Order: sequence, then structure tokens, then C-alpha cells
Amino acid sequence: MAHFPALVGLGSYLPPRRVTNEELATAFDTSDEWITTRTGIRSRHWASPGMATSDLAIEAGHRALKSANLPPGPGAVDAVVLATTTPDHPCPATAPQVASRLGLGATAAYDIAAVCSGFVYALATASAQITAGQARRVLVIGAETYSTILNPADRTTSVIFGDGAGAVVLSAVPDADAPGVVLGVDLGSDGSRQDLITIPGGGSRERASTAEHDPNGRYFTMQGKKVFAEAVTRMGDSAAALLDRIGWPVESVDHLVGHQANVRILKALAQRLGLPQERAVVNIDRVGNTSAASIPVALADAATAGTLATGSRLLLTAFGGGLTWGSAALTWPGLTAA
Ligand code: ACO
Repeated sequence: MAHFPALVGLGSYLPPRRVTNEELATAFDTSDEWITTRTGIRSRHWASPGMATSDLAIEAGHRALKSANLPPGPGAVDAVVLATTTPDHPCPATAPQVASRLGLGATAAYDIAAVCSGFVYALATASAQITAGQARRVLVIGAETYSTILNPADRTTSVIFGDGAGAVVLSAVPDADAPGVVLGVDLGSDGSRQDLITIPGGGSRERASTAEHDPNGRYFTMQGKKVFAEAVTRMGDSAAALLDRIGWPVESVDHLVGHQANVRILKALAQRLGLPQERAVVNIDRVGNTSAASIPVALADAATAGTLATGSRLLLTAFGGGLTWGSAALTWPGLTAA
């Protein structure tokens, strides 16, 4: 019997510490006016010292399981897929620790590294596991602590990124038309442009162990202007290709859940696709760019705000370092986010 991957649980978590533009303006040569007009961000949350990505992932994962009415325990899910750019350690992956601390038993658990596109990549992988019959239920998490990789001398990146985590539970259902079924995904990459978004040091190319290692190489870098243009084009083309493949006319999309990188990118994306700007879900003003956590956190915020009607059509699309990009389409199952 065929199995289709359906969204049955959704949760999100932000660390308690809220950092306003005004606070950043005391540490950087910047202003609330610049940050608000150039990015749409008013505040973001940063993890306190000692709080790691797994800590946020566990909170979001716990909430997604609760939203799915699944008590955490061995056998609750068959896999945990964690998308992150900021793992607790370079080795091992963070997902096994998250699975273990959630009490999920000896489940399969692995990380996905696709920077801001990570959640869509993880959703695609988890959906494929369900379709292939390798898993009945998968916990998919996007979690980040970018505050730990921001260069304190770089005002541009330091004002953009926030920490947080979002998670969904996908479950196998027999009906392809059931609400919440992931109807299709589109993924892509362009490694020739990897230099646009990178942490150059600490890997096998620029080794942390060498005397020449630049300690600044451990920080996140981004060529903002070039990334802006790529983001709009790649998300737009990926989303359009997916809509074409699944036969959804663009005007039938009720909610565009795009990666919250910059409110101007979201507006340009809606315009490129030919969608009214009101259909773009926006929560970047409160959370900043939370990278792999961005889409599930935005989805949870929209669900909690009551703006998603059951059965409405959702188009998810993300872009990030790699370069990578990806889109996914589903109808809203009408569940309550935790
Ligand atoms: N405060 C005040 N001024 C600033 C700040 C700041 N925080 N940051 C930069 N500036 C200045 C610059 O120095 C520059 O000054 P100059 O004109 O005197 O040289 C001016 O503002 C304009 O700088 P730009 O970099 O051209 O600013 P831009 O309008 O492009 O905005 C931004 C920068 C917000 C980064 C934008 O380019 C952007 O959002 N890019 C896309 C980011 C994105 O999509 N990321 C997604 C992927 S991220 C990932 O994968 C992890």
C-alpha cells in the first residue's frame, strides 16, 4: 500500500533573551532605523551562554510531538532529522543527542547541512523515507544558534540573525489527498558560489590545527547584496517549477511561507511569483533570520495567529549557503501549534 507523508504536529521555541535593535545600536555602529528599513527586523532572540542548539531543538521537538498527540518514548518516531548550521559540536551530529534526550529510544537520527535551506531539505528527506516505506513517523527539526558564530566586528550579519528552533512531525497516511500531505518538493544547489555565504575556517580546507589559521575564520560571513539577488531568483524559480509540476496555479497559493531572510526579499519574491504581498507570511520583525529554523517557526507563528484556514494551500521556499535552495507544497491540516 502506498504511503504519503502528512504534517501532523508543529512546534517552535525561541530562547528567552530578546535582543532589540536599540540594544544592538549600543554595541554596533548601527540604528533601529537602518535595521528596520533595510531588513524589516525589530528584535530577535539570542541563546544565553551555555545554551546550545540541541537545547532549542529539544524544546521545539517536544512541542511538535505534543501537537501531534504523541507522548515521547521509544517508537514514537522512526527517525529524527535535524537541520542546522550550528551543531553542538563538529562531530558527532546533534540529532542523536536530541533523540536520546527526548527519550525516543534507538531511533535513526541524523543532521542535514544545507544552511538556511536546511529545513526544506530535511522535510524532503523525511518525506522520501515515508514514501519509501522506511519510516512511519519522522520528527523534522530546524534549530540554530547563529549568535555563537557571528563576528562581533561585523555589524551587517550581527543585526540580521536570531536563534530559535521549529519542528514538525510527518506521519504516513494512505490518502494522497489528505490535508497536510507534502505534495511535492523541489531542491537545488550551486556550489560554484559557495564563497557568498561561508564559515571559511575550521574544516579540512582551512584547518584549525595549522599555525596560519585565522581565528576570525570561525565566523560566519555573507556577501549580502549578491546573496539578496540570488535569493529572490532561486526561491522564485524553484517555487514556480514546483507549482508547475504539481499543477497549482500560482494564484491558488494562499500562503507563501518563505525563508525569513529580509522582508524586502519576501516582497520581491511575492512580486516575482505574481502573488499579492499579503499572502507572504512574515514574522522576521520578531525573530530575525533564524536560518534552518526559519520556516517552521514562521509556520508555527502563523498557525498560532489563526491565519491559516484548514485546507489552504501553503508554498514553502528557502534559500541559503551552499548555495542551496528548495521548495515544498502542502495543504494546511488545521492542527494546533505548540
Ligand atoms: N547598520 C548601519 N549601516 C550598515 C549596517 C548596519 N547594521 N550594515 C551595513 N551597513 C551599511 C554598509 O556599510 C553600507 O554603507 P556604504 O553605503 O557607506 O558602503 C550600506 O549600509 C549599505 O550596505 P549594503 O550591504 O549594500 O546593504 P543592503 O541594502 O544590501 O543590506 C543586507 C544588507 C541586509 C545584508 C541585505 O543585503 C540582505 O538582506 N541580503 C540577503 C541576506 C539573505 O538573503 N540571506 C539568506 C541566506 S543566509 C544563510 O544562508 C545563512
